[in-house]
Amino acid sequence: MPYAKIIGSGGYLPPRIVTNDELAAELATRQIETSDSWIVERTGIRQRHLADAGVSTSQLATRAAQAALDDAGVAAADLDLIIVATSTPDFVFPSTACLVQAKLGAKGGAAFDVQAVCSGFVYALSTADAFIRAGRARTALVIGAEVFSSILDWNDRSTCVLFGDGAGAVVLKASDEPGIMAAQLHADGSQMKILCAAGNVSHGEVVGDPFLRMDGQAVFKLAVTSLAKSAIDVCAEAGVSLADVDWLVPHQANVRIINFLGRRLGIPDEKIVVTVDRHANTSAASVPLAFDVARKDGRIKPGDTVMMQGVGGGFTWGSVLLRI
Ligand SMILES: CC(C)(COP(=O)(O)OP(=O)(O)OC[C@H]1O[C@@H](n2cnc3c(N)ncnc32)[C@H](O)[C@@H]1OP(=O)(O)O)[C@@H](O)C(=O)NCCC(=O)NCCS
Repeated sequence: MPYAKIIGSGGYLPPRIVTNDELAAELATRQIETSDSWIVERTGIRQRHLADAGVSTSQLATRAAQAALDDAGVAAADLDLIIVATSTPDFVFPSTACLVQAKLGAKGGAAFDVQAVCSGFVYALSTADAFIRAGRARTALVIGAEVFSSILDWNDRSTCVLFGDGAGAVVLKASDEPGIMAAQLHADGSQMKILCAAGNVSHGEVVGDPFLRMDGQAVFKLAVTSLAKSAIDVCAEAGVSLADVDWLVPHQANVRIINFLGRRLGIPDEKIVVTVDRHANTSAASVPLAFDVARKDGRIKPGDTVMMQGVGGGFTWGSVLLRI
């Protein structure tokens, strides 16, 4: 049975950077108080990239996808599977993956979206791995992409300071060598209310609340416990010890969640990739963006063992353990 191996990666961030001070000044014009020190102390976030009005998820996704294809030396025409993880699709349908396929100039392979919010990339990666291992695809493109700013309530300081926009992508190829060694996906729908955007478009109108709502403290606690257990379980499945993990690439929601997780697993800071300070939480894009940064700057190298972890609305969480 072939393994799915990452042979290229790419990322794209919209060019407009908004620092905490700039965001605080903008919110102050509407009598909403926040500060760089509050945001940095509670989250580690210093800035975020925000898409301009009219820029869609498929546009960001296509830029990241093209970078990953170039990095892998793969032509779009050779893709037999495209999966986009997103909670901010361009349309109700067609899927963002179909839009990306057309923008890349590809045709004929399977293309669909995965909706698992901030766990979306890990869900999509595990799905592509299953396709490749089953022999149903040989070359796959997996993208996490979001214009999360479009579902934020910019009058709610407890959420709007936390998120950003962006896209990250990897190209997977069937290989005799690992590759993805193990993957675990989980959900607990009974916790849907602690992180949701519970609105919809129906009969031509927005029904319900289209903005992201969150119980920050409940999310914090569940994120740390679920990710810690998932890390232990995915290592056990692969027969790899936690000490053998060269790089942890966790979902980039909050540096305090990442620090707690590292301490609970005994993984030192030097082995943990952190981009939340520069990118904020880009939901499904956060893991592939962080992975691409660490791969391109030479930290993640061929032969390394990498654990990617996602956690978010649903409530969903999961881990993928792989060899580069
Ligand atoms: C959101 C989070 C940073 C809030 O930190 P916290 O320590 O739990 O803070 P609280 O929600 O208890 O709020 C403390 C105070 O700060 C205030 N506050 C909230 N947002 C603020 C902001 N942006 N600026 C200034 N003050 C703010 C609150 O109103 C509250 O004030 P009060 O004590 O007068 O009522 C934290 O809960 C968290 O990181 N949770 C996880 C969120 C996450 O990662 N979500 C995505 C997962 S995919």
